[in-house]
Amino acid sequence: MAVDIGIDLGSSKTVIFSSSKVVLEVPNVVTVDSDSWEVVYTGENAKQTIGRTPESMQTVFPIEHGVISDYDLAEYMLKEYMTTAFGNKILRPRIMATLPAGLTELQHHSLSNVLESAGGRNITVIESPLAIAFSLGLDFSSPHGSLIVDIGAGTTDVAVISMGDIAVCNSFKTASFDIDAQIIRYVRKEFNIEIGQLTAESIKVKVGTAVERDVEIAVIAKGRNVFTGLPESFEITSSEVYEAIKDTIDTICNAIREVLNKTDPDLVADIMADGMYLAGGGSLLLGMPQKISEYLGIEVHHLSDPTHSVVRGAAVALKNSELLKNVDYQMRSIKELEIE
Ligand SMILES: Nc1ncnc2c1ncn2[C@@H]1O[C@H](COP(=O)(O)OP(=O)(O)OP(=O)(O)O)[C@@H](O)[C@H]1O
Ligand SMILES: [Mg+2]
Repeated sequence: MAVDIGIDLGSSKTVIFSSSKVVLEVPNVVTVDSDSWEVVYTGENAKQTIGRTPESMQTVFPIEHGVISDYDLAEYMLKEYMTTAFGNKILRPRIMATLPAGLTELQHHSLSNVLESAGGRNITVIESPLAIAFSLGLDFSSPHGSLIVDIGAGTTDVAVISMGDIAVCNSFKTASFDIDAQIIRYVRKEFNIEIGQLTAESIKVKVGTAVERDVEIAVIAKGRNVFTGLPESFEITSSEVYEAIKDTIDTICNAIREVLNKTDPDLVADIMADGMYLAGGGSLLLGMPQKISEYLGIEVHHLSDPTHSVVRGAAVALKNSELLKNVDYQMRSIKELEIE
């Protein structure tokens, strides 16, 4: 069976898109034996071991800040995910994969090589913001600036797209994982309780907010008292979480401003007129679009399916190779897109 596949290999999860739908969405986590480094769990099962492994095991994130940090584990994981998604019946899949903006040729090579080892052929790697622009169906026929922001788990990607290619971009290492880290720090400092990353993420999703809420809400969570070492429940309010994470949110807003400061004034004028496009799981934090809009004074269009827009755009580019004609991807990727 010959198939076309879009792959978004993110810091928190892999999303695979094929035949017009998401066919797999799974955490990029691997649990390994500490001595032999043999894989014990991958995906959802591995995610559940975060902060819970005995000394004989370790939890590893093979993708950090959007790039491969452990080549062998990334390859193992991807092979398994491809088999889960397609079984063994897949033949020479044409793959469009994505990476954060502004990376080196070597990092593009790495991703391409891992995908090839995992069974892929005809691999093209494009930048995530470009994929988002393709998913939006923006008009690239004339020079016009569009600002795309993707707040993921490990990176905040900011890019200005004009005529189907990236005019200015940067990939910042402050993103949604840092919000979890701030919640962990706050709980330790204010409650003397240690919590794990999964608990912090759950607090963020339930009561986290980028702007002050009109009505305060609270959640009860569990951790370990740093003095007694015993399990303890505590209640944390939305105002407290807001206090804990507001500096990180400001850093993200500032990152967007930094890219705008480096952008040609005419392109900035286009963005001021059109508004910007916001995607990524981090954009789902309550009030995030409003906060960014107020901070920058720009209208924010929050994409309707923000965690899948990258992979959807990759699939759009596979179907319509014309979209890549202005992309200087020869510089950034190593495999020519082969049209069958
Ligand atoms: N409702 C929500 N509120 C707040 N944060 C959320 C929500 N839903 C998901 N997230 C966060 O979004 C992040 C995942 O986003 P996304 O899937 O875009 O990341 P990624 O593509 O794996 O990472 P990256 O693009 O940085 O490499 C996680 O940190 C998750 O906690
Ligand atoms: Mg992403």
